[in-house]
Amino acid sequence: MVDGGQPGNPVFTPVLDGRFTPILDGRFTPILDGRFTPVLDEHVPALARIYNHYVEHSDWAFNTDPVDEAGMRRRLRFDDPRNAAFTILVDGTIAGFVAAHAFRPGTAYDQTTELSLYLAPDRAGHRLGTAAKAFIVDYARHQGFHVALGAVVAGNTAAIALATHSGFVQIGHFREIGRKGDRWLDLVWFELLLDSPECAPPPPEPRSKLS
Ligand SMILES: CC(C)(COP(=O)(O)OP(=O)(O)OC[C@H]1O[C@@H](n2cnc3c(N)ncnc32)[C@H](O)[C@@H]1OP(=O)(O)O)[C@@H](O)C(=O)NCCC(=O)NCCS
Repeated sequence: MVDGGQPGNPVFTPVLDGRFTPILDGRFTPILDGRFTPVLDEHVPALARIYNHYVEHSDWAFNTDPVDEAGMRRRLRFDDPRNAAFTILVDGTIAGFVAAHAFRPGTAYDQTTELSLYLAPDRAGHRLGTAAKAFIVDYARHQGFHVALGAVVAGNTAAIALATHSGFVQIGHFREIGRKGDRWLDLVWFELLLDSPECAPPPPEPRSKLS
């Protein structure tokens, strides 16, 4: 389902029951057990630490102050049950989270979801983001959303590469829409039409190839 793209990189095959299987070529530490699981209360402190790393040490999260556990819980709970947040577990440890959020209030936006993804810093750059993005896109499609959106701070090259290589199309660029410290931040918006033919999931394998 997901092609890691570059020779020499691992390829993850995420599936909707929450597990993913990395195929490795030896460049990276093997992941024996990777899975996405709905966020549990006990995950929240670790997820807040991951998110706050990017609040405090980068421009990639738009909060200017760290969130506490209550704030993190609010970020990861949703009124619409089609939206959801998943903890990324790698070999039993929390490696990040990925979520589908409501885009804006207004029932005309009901078929739109906005995706977000944060990995623990020591887990970034190992193709886990590619697996998580594929998982949450699959999830959003299975929930019946029509559009998935992603907002990335200009200059976040990893997130921009990930969006582009996951089939998202850049559809907007807000200039100086955020401010952290003494810097104005631009925000780049990406969109994926989930039920358009060009991003439809591949057809099932013919029966003769199964078994
Ligand atoms: C953005 C993020 C989710 C990407 O996940 P990742 O596991 O690091 O990314 P991957 O290893 O799957 O690589 C995805 C693409 O980004 C590229 N990339 C990864 N790290 C990069 C870096 N530091 N600089 C430039 N490109 C980078 C990869 O080469 C790959 O592109 P390719 O398909 O052309 O090879 C992760 O780095 C992260 O959590 N960053 C901090 C939080 C954040 O910015 N979230 C996005 C806003 S919601």
